[in-house]
Amino acid sequence: MGKKISRRSFLGTTVKGALGLVTVAIVPLNLLTACGEESVDTSAMANLGPLDKLKEGPFPKPVNYEVTVQDAWVEQELIGSVYVNLVEGELLILSPICTHLGCTVSPNENLEVGTFRCPCHLGIYDEYGVNISGPPPRPLDIFKPYLVDGNVLIPILDPTIREA
Ligand code: FES
Repeated sequence: MGKKISRRSFLGTTVKGALGLVTVAIVPLNLLTACGEESVDTSAMANLGPLDKLKEGPFPKPVNYEVTVQDAWVEQELIGSVYVNLVEGELLILSPICTHLGCTVSPNENLEVGTFRCPCHLGIYDEYGVNISGPPPRPLDIFKPYLVDGNVLIPILDPTIREA
């Protein structure tokens, strides 16, 4: 005799299966952002690797990722990088996308070590991704980190916007 499953449960499972969604309850990594266990869709998360490796300097440092994500009905291959810094022992994970018009920032070789420079209109950010000169209106977006089996995962399609 098979296991009894409610209609609601069946529909939920079927729709999630069709969309490729994998929702699990996990705990955010940073104490500053944590507010208990959350249900998170891990099918749209990029794995940045083991936490202990990520916490090794020097900072800020680029960390590459490669992931296949399910965004609604569309499956996408994403290859890219984020910048990681450490603030009071907690990871600060920065998007490399300039908040002016969306160009990709890179480490600033000409100015202070650790800063970032946008090549498009010369926006400058400090080592924490805070805009310090040029046209960017606000700091670089950040990603909320989650710890799953010793690895740090970030919601790559859902960065957090920081206010100016
Ligand atoms: S797009 Fe970066 S400064 Fe304009």
